[in-house]
Amino acid sequence: MQLVALVTGGSRGIGRAIAEALAGRGAAVAVVARGEEAVKRAAAELADRFGVRSLGIRADLALAADCAAAVARCSAELGPPSVLVHNAGTAPSARLEDSDDAMLDEVLDLHVRAAFRLVRAALPGLRAAKAGTVVLLGSTAGLRGYPFTAAYTAAKHGMVGFARALAAEWAREPALRAFVVCPGFVDTDITRDAARAVAARGRKSAEELLSAFAAQNRIGRLHRPDEVADAVVRLVFDRPPGTVLDLDSPHPTLSP
Ligand SMILES: NC(=O)c1ccc[n+]([C@@H]2O[C@H](COP(=O)([O-])OP(=O)(O)OC[C@H]3O[C@@H](n4cnc5c(N)ncnc54)[C@H](OP(=O)(O)O)[C@@H]3O)[C@@H](O)[C@H]2O)c1
Repeated sequence: MQLVALVTGGSRGIGRAIAEALAGRGAAVAVVARGEEAVKRAAAELADRFGVRSLGIRADLALAADCAAAVARCSAELGPPSVLVHNAGTAPSARLEDSDDAMLDEVLDLHVRAAFRLVRAALPGLRAAKAGTVVLLGSTAGLRGYPFTAAYTAAKHGMVGFARALAAEWAREPALRAFVVCPGFVDTDITRDAARAVAARGRKSAEELLSAFAAQNRIGRLHRPDEVADAVVRLVFDRPPGTVLDLDSPHPTLSP
């Protein structure tokens, strides 16, 4: 039976690389994001390049109704997802005193609440698939603290905690697996936008800031989206033991 994957934030960046890697392994892929044209284009390109069934779904995953609707539409048009990758995200940065409730809501809604809602909506299909896999995009900001990103860091710690809770709850159900993948800074729009935003307020150029971000990664450089995608594909197909994958390590290993 063909694997059906739902990839949130699959229109660009890491999610796009994950959608391509899964399609490259023959999965039917639903790509979900807010930009209607972008999801349609991404889905069409997956079908052209990899010859798989694909679907673009426009949804604002900060909204509860859109989370449920995205899973329902994927189930109706491609089949119930047996792989759910919740990757969509934003990473606002500000000092704590400038971080308001709207910023906190933005990241909690999109990262943590959407993860709960998507997994709950997809659970009957994941269970029925006999090999249902949930992969959440965490971050090293879910494993350690960074300055000027308190809301994001709290939300990413929430993603790691949610994945661990799922793994514990499903410990006696080998059909269901949950993972959270934690890269450091990755070379995508989020990172480049952050460098430009900080450069506009400070003394360093965007390029200098990108180098500084890269230096904060333990691997000493920015991760590439395809490296994150390779890790996700290994989790989906090999289903190794463990839950939390710290990618910012020379030898990434899964821990409970
Ligand atoms: N880049 C990094 O350095 C880094 C490091 C660690 C972890 N991560 C995590 O990796 C994930 C992907 O990041 P990225 O760097 O690939 O970001 P990106 O290039 O900015 O892509 C973000 C994706 O999420 C979608 N999205 C954003 N808000 C959405 C919403 N409300 N509803 C539905 N879709 C939404 C975007 O499409 P639309 O804008 O059209 O909705 C886009 O497809 C995020 O969870 C991020 O926190 C990134």
